[in-house]
Amino acid sequence: MEWRILEIKVLKDYEELSSFVANIVETQIKEQPISRLILPTGSTPVGLYKELVNRELDWSAVMTYNLDVYIMNPSHPQSYQTFMKENLFDKINIYPSNCQFPDRNVQSYEQRLKGIPADLCILGIGTNGHIAFNEPGSSFDSRTRVVHLDEQTIKDNSRFFGSVDDVPTQAITMGLGTIMDSKKIVLMANGVNKLNILNVAMNGEVTEDVPASILQRHDNVEVFYCD
Ligand code: PGA
Repeated sequence: MEWRILEIKVLKDYEELSSFVANIVETQIKEQPISRLILPTGSTPVGLYKELVNRELDWSAVMTYNLDVYIMNPSHPQSYQTFMKENLFDKINIYPSNCQFPDRNVQSYEQRLKGIPADLCILGIGTNGHIAFNEPGSSFDSRTRVVHLDEQTIKDNSRFFGSVDDVPTQAITMGLGTIMDSKKIVLMANGVNKLNILNVAMNGEVTEDVPASILQRHDNVEVFYCD
């Protein structure tokens, strides 16, 4: 399958987006307690994690793999490790050793994911069409690696830091190939500033200039949007 228009399911508001995706995660964990999940950071999944914390789920056999991390001190308040602890991991019964983040040993992270594909991968999308930190121009075959952040991403993410100059310029990200190995993928997008790129990625040409367009080649993807 080379090209497929992906339906964008429009939800009423951010609460509905968060609870819709929480339902998918809940079903996954209840039906298959030993699940492997790929998880995102950023502003979009905050409501999802809040929802999940409020549900009585048993995370004791769940393994999580984060999509990406900035190259920075993991204990920095804006690191993705801190984000995950504060928004999810410290509030559920998951084993810290089951919460995996990419590190400079990229081969080892790939090995942990290879062979047994993740059951469910949750994604956000950047205004430039990135998924994880696979910026425009990333190879569709890419695997976990160190990357330089796009100028647009640094600008977008400066809202979490004091200034543009404080945003890390490098990150470690799962590749597009790594993400595509997942059995099921759910993409969440929130805000009118994402609408245009979402349409381009889901309904336009499949091109490495728009990394999220690769999802058109996956046979089990759901895309949710709210403005
Ligand atoms: P956001 O980021 O959820 O903070 O908008 C999404 C992304 O860049 O992938």
